[in-house]
Amino acid sequence: MTQQAQYVPALGRPELTGAYDLVVSLATRERRWRAALLAALAPRDGETIVDIGCGTGSQAIAIKRARPGARVVGIDPDPAVLAIAEAKAERAGVSIEWILGLGDRADTLVGRGVADAVISSLVLHQCDEPVKGEILKAMARLARPGARVLIADYGRQRGLMRLLFRMVQAVDGFERTEFNAIGALPGLMRASGLTAVTERDRFATPTGSISIYTTRAG
Ligand SMILES: C[S@@+](CC[C@H](N)C(=O)[O-])C[C@H]1O[C@@H](n2cnc3c(N)ncnc32)[C@H](O)[C@@H]1O
Repeated sequence: MTQQAQYVPALGRPELTGAYDLVVSLATRERRWRAALLAALAPRDGETIVDIGCGTGSQAIAIKRARPGARVVGIDPDPAVLAIAEAKAERAGVSIEWILGLGDRADTLVGRGVADAVISSLVLHQCDEPVKGEILKAMARLARPGARVLIADYGRQRGLMRLLFRMVQAVDGFERTEFNAIGALPGLMRASGLTAVTERDRFATPTGSISIYTTRAG
């Protein structure tokens, strides 16, 4: 946790944030699951799409590149990752709205029911259980009724993946990550007001399997 004990930085400790993009590319087969998340999202012109816990902005930038006519908003509580995201977006020549804030307050920051789609990637596994639920509820409130709400994260770990996931558990803490590993996320999504919860894809990676969940705001 940071000094304010509000959030866990991208790689667990603030001094490692600069290495985040490199670590994620090596440790998660990033291109495959990010492309699958983008395909599942299928962004359209004119849509408002919000990325909760956007980190260094890789997914938000990919969305804006794929669909320049969409409004893309990235929210993250860590000013250090947002500074990296802003610089990357500038280099990529895309315009994204970056907002400093916690995911569980996303609807108060952007507006209730204004999003046509809400996504979050690799955030929930590193949050305490109550925070996971509060973020999911905020995503449901932020989305207009029936809108797409998508999560990419470490889900239920099976076989070898369970073993490899120990690396993530060592960095991000056993309890908060174990919740994901035992497959409890989909139930929490439903309890948070999301419907049509489906595990659409699952990718084996060197650090455990990453699932793409599609849901709808109720
Ligand atoms: C592992 S990084 C994932 C970043 C990005 N979504 C990606 O796909 O690369 C987790 C991010 O979640 C953010 N985070 C941690 N706690 C959060 C919270 N309560 N609400 C929103 N974001 C949070 C961190 O600051 C960090 O940038």
